[in-house]
Amino acid sequence: MATLIDGKLISAKIKEDIKAKIEELKAKNITPGLAVILVGEDPASTVYVRNKEKMCGELGIKSEVYRLPESTTTSELLDLIDKLNENKAIHGILLQHPVPSHIDEYAAFNRISPKKDVDGFTDVNIGKLVIGKDTFVSCTPNGILAMLKHENVDISGKHCVIVGRSNIVGKPMSSLMLKENATVTICHSKTTNLTEITKQADILIVAIGKPKFITKDMVKKDAVVIDVGINRIDGKLIGDVDFDNVKEVASKITPVPGGVGPMTMVMLMSNTIKASTL
Ligand code: GUN
Repeated sequence: MATLIDGKLISAKIKEDIKAKIEELKAKNITPGLAVILVGEDPASTVYVRNKEKMCGELGIKSEVYRLPESTTTSELLDLIDKLNENKAIHGILLQHPVPSHIDEYAAFNRISPKKDVDGFTDVNIGKLVIGKDTFVSCTPNGILAMLKHENVDISGKHCVIVGRSNIVGKPMSSLMLKENATVTICHSKTTNLTEITKQADILIVAIGKPKFITKDMVKKDAVVIDVGINRIDGKLIGDVDFDNVKEVASKITPVPGGVGPMTMVMLMSNTIKASTL
Protein backbone atom coordinates (compact mmCIF):
# COMPACT_ATOMS: atom_id res chain seq x y z
CA MET A 1 0.00 0.00 0.00
CA ALA A 2 1.39 3.40 -1.01
CA THR A 3 2.25 6.13 1.45
CA LEU A 4 0.68 9.51 0.77
CA ILE A 5 2.74 12.44 -0.46
CA ASP A 6 1.08 15.22 1.48
CA GLY A 7 1.24 18.42 -0.57
CA LYS A 8 -0.47 20.44 2.15
CA LEU A 9 2.19 19.50 4.69
CA ILE A 10 5.14 20.00 2.34
CA SER A 11 3.82 23.32 1.06
CA ALA A 12 3.25 24.52 4.65
CA LYS A 13 6.93 23.82 5.41
CA ILE A 14 8.05 25.70 2.31
CA LYS A 15 5.76 28.57 3.29
CA GLU A 16 7.61 28.89 6.58
CA ASP A 17 10.94 29.15 4.69
CA ILE A 18 9.39 31.79 2.43
CA LYS A 19 8.18 33.80 5.44
CA ALA A 20 11.69 33.83 6.86
CA LYS A 21 13.11 35.02 3.52
CA ILE A 22 10.51 37.80 3.33
CA GLU A 23 11.53 38.99 6.79
CA GLU A 24 15.16 39.13 5.62
CA LEU A 25 14.12 41.13 2.54
CA LYS A 26 12.01 43.51 4.62
CA ALA A 27 15.07 44.25 6.75
CA LYS A 28 16.69 45.41 3.51
CA ASN A 29 13.62 47.51 2.66
CA ILE A 30 12.47 45.17 -0.11
CA THR A 31 8.80 44.19 -0.26
CA PRO A 32 8.27 41.59 -2.99
CA GLY A 33 5.50 42.67 -5.35
CA LEU A 34 3.40 40.43 -7.61
CA ALA A 35 0.98 41.63 -10.30
CA VAL A 36 -1.69 39.15 -11.35
CA ILE A 37 -3.70 39.77 -14.51
CA LEU A 38 -7.03 38.04 -15.01
CA VAL A 39 -8.84 38.60 -18.29
CA GLY A 40 -12.50 37.56 -18.35
CA GLU A 41 -14.43 35.54 -15.79
CA ASP A 42 -13.40 31.92 -16.16
CA PRO A 43 -14.74 30.45 -12.86
CA ALA A 44 -11.70 28.26 -12.06
CA SER A 45 -9.28 31.11 -12.88
CA THR A 46 -11.28 33.50 -10.70
CA VAL A 47 -10.84 31.13 -7.74
CA TYR A 48 -7.10 30.60 -8.46
CA VAL A 49 -6.50 34.35 -8.62
CA ARG A 50 -8.37 34.95 -5.36
CA ASN A 51 -6.28 32.25 -3.67
CA LYS A 52 -3.05 33.77 -4.98
CA GLU A 53 -4.08 37.16 -3.63
CA LYS A 54 -4.89 35.60 -0.26
CA MET A 55 -1.56 33.81 0.03
CA CYS A 56 0.36 36.96 -0.92
CA GLY A 57 -1.47 38.75 1.90
CA GLU A 58 -0.64 36.00 4.41
CA LEU A 59 3.05 36.08 3.53
CA GLY A 60 3.54 39.82 3.23
CA ILE A 61 3.98 39.93 -0.54
CA LYS A 62 2.39 43.02 -2.05
CA SER A 63 -0.13 41.88 -4.67
CA GLU A 64 -1.92 43.89 -7.32
CA VAL A 65 -4.70 42.12 -9.16
CA TYR A 66 -5.84 43.48 -12.53
CA ARG A 67 -9.28 42.11 -13.42
CA LEU A 68 -9.86 43.00 -17.07
CA PRO A 69 -13.10 42.53 -19.01
CA GLU A 70 -13.54 39.68 -21.50
CA SER A 71 -13.57 42.29 -24.29
CA THR A 72 -9.96 43.38 -23.60
CA THR A 73 -7.88 43.50 -26.78
CA THR A 74 -4.37 42.09 -27.22
CA SER A 75 -3.04 45.60 -27.58
CA GLU A 76 -4.66 46.78 -24.31
CA LEU A 77 -3.21 43.78 -22.53
CA LEU A 78 0.26 44.39 -23.97
CA ASP A 79 0.06 48.03 -22.81
CA LEU A 80 -0.68 46.93 -19.24
CA ILE A 81 2.21 44.44 -19.32
CA ASP A 82 4.54 47.19 -20.59
CA LYS A 83 3.55 49.39 -17.66
CA LEU A 84 4.09 46.58 -15.16
CA ASN A 85 7.48 45.77 -16.71
CA GLU A 86 8.48 49.37 -15.93
CA ASN A 87 6.99 49.41 -12.42
CA LYS A 88 9.85 49.07 -9.88
CA ALA A 89 7.51 47.96 -7.05
CA ILE A 90 6.38 44.96 -9.12
CA HIS A 91 8.89 42.11 -9.26
CA GLY A 92 6.71 39.37 -10.72
CA ILE A 93 3.97 39.41 -13.35
CA LEU A 94 1.51 36.55 -13.78
CA LEU A 95 -1.00 36.45 -16.59
CA GLN A 96 -3.63 33.90 -15.64
CA HIS A 97 -4.04 31.23 -18.31
CA PRO A 98 -6.27 30.75 -20.26
CA VAL A 99 -7.09 34.17 -21.69
CA PRO A 100 -10.13 34.64 -24.00
CA SER A 101 -9.48 33.12 -27.43
CA HIS A 102 -9.44 36.46 -29.31
CA ILE A 103 -6.29 37.47 -27.40
CA ASP A 104 -2.84 36.47 -28.67
CA GLU A 105 -1.73 34.63 -25.53
CA TYR A 106 1.70 33.79 -26.91
CA ALA A 107 2.45 37.45 -27.62
CA ALA A 108 1.16 38.44 -24.19
CA PHE A 109 3.27 35.93 -22.27
CA ASN A 110 6.36 36.91 -24.24
CA ARG A 111 5.80 40.61 -23.53
CA ILE A 112 6.49 39.92 -19.84
CA SER A 113 10.08 40.79 -19.02
CA PRO A 114 11.98 37.49 -18.49
CA LYS A 115 13.21 38.96 -15.18
CA LYS A 116 9.58 39.28 -13.99
CA ASP A 117 8.34 36.06 -15.58
CA VAL A 118 7.53 34.19 -12.35
CA ASP A 119 5.58 31.59 -14.36
CA GLY A 120 8.57 30.70 -16.51
CA PHE A 121 6.41 30.95 -19.65
CA THR A 122 8.52 33.28 -21.81
CA ASP A 123 10.54 31.82 -24.67
CA VAL A 124 13.72 33.07 -22.98
CA ASN A 125 13.05 31.27 -19.70
CA ILE A 126 11.78 28.10 -21.37
CA GLY A 127 14.95 28.08 -23.47
CA LYS A 128 17.12 28.48 -20.38
CA LEU A 129 15.29 25.62 -18.68
CA VAL A 130 15.80 23.35 -21.69
CA ILE A 131 19.56 23.96 -21.70
CA GLY A 132 19.74 23.49 -17.93
CA LYS A 133 20.42 27.10 -16.87
CA ASP A 134 19.07 28.65 -13.68
CA THR A 135 15.80 30.40 -14.50
CA PHE A 136 12.18 30.78 -13.40
CA VAL A 137 10.60 27.36 -13.70
CA SER A 138 6.88 26.88 -14.30
CA CYS A 139 5.28 26.52 -10.85
CA THR A 140 3.57 23.13 -11.12
CA PRO A 141 6.60 21.18 -12.40
CA ASN A 142 8.82 23.01 -9.90
CA GLY A 143 6.40 22.06 -7.11
CA ILE A 144 6.45 18.41 -8.20
CA LEU A 145 10.25 18.35 -8.12
CA ALA A 146 10.21 19.92 -4.64
CA MET A 147 7.81 17.18 -3.50
CA LEU A 148 9.99 14.40 -4.91
CA LYS A 149 13.04 15.88 -3.19
CA HIS A 150 11.19 16.31 0.09
CA GLU A 151 10.23 12.64 -0.10
CA ASN A 152 13.85 11.65 -0.88
CA VAL A 153 12.76 9.94 -4.10
CA ASP A 154 15.76 8.74 -6.11
CA ILE A 155 15.59 10.43 -9.50
CA SER A 156 19.02 9.95 -11.07
CA GLY A 157 19.02 7.03 -13.51
CA LYS A 158 15.33 6.29 -12.92
CA HIS A 159 12.75 6.11 -15.68
CA CYS A 160 10.34 9.02 -15.39
CA VAL A 161 7.26 8.74 -17.59
CA ILE A 162 5.23 11.91 -18.06
CA VAL A 163 1.72 11.57 -19.44
CA GLY A 164 0.75 14.89 -21.07
CA ARG A 165 2.81 17.28 -23.20
CA SER A 166 1.45 20.71 -22.24
CA ASN A 167 3.70 23.77 -22.24
CA ILE A 168 2.77 24.44 -18.60
CA VAL A 169 3.40 20.99 -17.12
CA GLY A 170 4.57 18.13 -19.36
CA LYS A 171 7.30 19.85 -21.37
CA PRO A 172 8.95 21.82 -18.53
CA MET A 173 8.66 18.75 -16.28
CA SER A 174 10.63 16.72 -18.81
CA SER A 175 13.46 19.31 -18.81
CA LEU A 176 13.56 19.38 -15.00
CA MET A 177 13.72 15.61 -14.73
CA LEU A 178 16.44 15.43 -17.40
CA LYS A 179 18.45 17.93 -15.36
CA GLU A 180 18.05 15.56 -12.41
CA ASN A 181 19.50 12.79 -14.60
CA ALA A 182 16.30 10.78 -15.03
CA THR A 183 15.61 8.89 -18.23
CA VAL A 184 12.51 10.68 -19.49
CA THR A 185 9.65 9.54 -21.71
CA ILE A 186 6.73 11.81 -22.61
CA CYS A 187 3.45 10.18 -23.60
CA HIS A 188 0.40 12.01 -24.91
CA SER A 189 -3.01 11.54 -26.47
CA LYS A 190 -1.58 10.02 -29.67
CA THR A 191 0.70 7.52 -27.92
CA THR A 192 -0.40 4.06 -29.08
CA ASN A 193 1.25 1.69 -26.57
CA LEU A 194 0.60 3.75 -23.46
CA THR A 195 0.29 0.96 -20.87
CA GLU A 196 3.48 -0.67 -22.14
CA ILE A 197 5.32 2.59 -21.40
CA THR A 198 3.63 3.68 -18.15
CA LYS A 199 4.33 0.18 -16.77
CA GLN A 200 8.05 0.92 -17.07
CA ALA A 201 7.87 4.08 -14.99
CA ASP A 202 9.73 4.34 -11.70
CA ILE A 203 8.22 7.81 -11.44
CA LEU A 204 4.90 8.38 -13.21
CA ILE A 205 3.70 11.97 -13.58
CA VAL A 206 0.22 12.38 -15.01
CA ALA A 207 -1.16 15.65 -16.42
CA ILE A 208 -3.62 14.64 -19.10
CA GLY A 209 -6.89 16.16 -17.79
CA LYS A 210 -8.96 12.95 -17.88
CA PRO A 211 -10.50 11.71 -14.63
CA LYS A 212 -9.17 8.34 -13.33
CA PHE A 213 -7.35 7.83 -16.64
CA ILE A 214 -4.43 5.90 -15.11
CA THR A 215 -5.61 2.58 -13.77
CA LYS A 216 -3.86 0.01 -11.57
CA ASP A 217 -2.87 -2.23 -14.51
CA MET A 218 -0.88 0.68 -16.02
CA VAL A 219 1.40 1.13 -13.01
CA LYS A 220 4.54 -0.80 -12.05
CA LYS A 221 4.76 -2.16 -8.51
CA ASP A 222 6.39 0.38 -6.16
CA ALA A 223 6.28 3.26 -8.66
CA VAL A 224 6.01 6.83 -7.36
CA VAL A 225 2.82 8.32 -8.81
CA ILE A 226 2.23 12.07 -9.13
CA ASP A 227 -1.26 13.16 -10.14
CA VAL A 228 -1.54 16.67 -11.59
CA GLY A 229 -5.17 16.29 -12.69
CA ILE A 230 -7.93 18.48 -11.29
CA ASN A 231 -11.22 17.35 -12.82
CA ARG A 232 -14.44 18.66 -11.33
CA ILE A 233 -17.06 15.91 -11.43
CA ASP A 234 -20.44 16.57 -9.74
CA GLY A 235 -18.78 19.22 -7.59
CA LYS A 236 -16.00 16.84 -6.49
CA LEU A 237 -12.31 17.12 -7.45
CA ILE A 238 -11.04 13.97 -9.14
CA GLY A 239 -7.46 13.39 -10.30
CA ASP A 240 -6.17 11.80 -13.51
CA VAL A 241 -5.21 8.68 -11.51
CA ASP A 242 -7.62 6.06 -10.20
CA PHE A 243 -6.30 6.73 -6.69
CA ASP A 244 -8.15 4.03 -4.71
CA ASN A 245 -6.83 1.20 -6.87
CA VAL A 246 -3.43 2.60 -7.92
CA LYS A 247 -2.45 3.19 -4.27
CA GLU A 248 -2.39 -0.61 -3.87
CA VAL A 249 0.57 -0.97 -6.26
CA ALA A 250 2.43 2.35 -5.93
CA SER A 251 5.04 3.02 -3.22
CA LYS A 252 4.11 6.70 -2.94
CA ILE A 253 1.20 8.64 -4.40
CA THR A 254 -0.21 12.17 -4.32
CA PRO A 255 -3.89 12.65 -3.45
CA VAL A 256 -6.29 15.00 -5.25
CA PRO A 257 -7.01 17.41 -3.69
CA GLY A 258 -4.11 18.04 -1.29
CA GLY A 259 -1.26 16.80 -3.48
CA VAL A 260 0.30 18.83 -6.28
CA GLY A 261 -2.27 21.67 -6.03
CA PRO A 262 -0.98 23.32 -2.83
CA MET A 263 2.60 23.13 -4.13
CA THR A 264 1.95 25.22 -7.24
CA MET A 265 1.07 28.36 -5.33
CA VAL A 266 3.99 28.25 -2.92
CA MET A 267 6.32 27.89 -5.90
CA LEU A 268 4.80 31.07 -7.35
CA MET A 269 5.53 32.85 -4.06
CA SER A 270 9.06 31.46 -4.09
CA ASN A 271 9.61 32.67 -7.68
CA THR A 272 8.30 36.11 -6.70
CA ILE A 273 10.85 36.32 -3.89
CA LYS A 274 13.57 35.26 -6.31
CA ALA A 275 12.44 37.99 -8.74
CA SER A 276 12.62 40.60 -6.00
CA THR A 277 16.32 39.87 -5.50
CA LEU A 278 17.35 40.07 -9.18
N1 GUN B 1 -3.52 28.40 -15.24
C1 GUN B 1 -3.39 27.16 -14.75
N2 GUN B 1 -2.14 26.98 -14.23
C2 GUN B 1 -1.49 28.16 -14.40
C3 GUN B 1 -0.18 28.58 -14.08
O1 GUN B 1 0.66 27.86 -13.53
N3 GUN B 1 0.10 29.87 -14.43
C4 GUN B 1 -0.78 30.68 -15.04
N4 GUN B 1 -0.39 31.91 -15.35
N5 GUN B 1 -2.00 30.31 -15.37
C5 GUN B 1 -2.35 29.04 -15.04
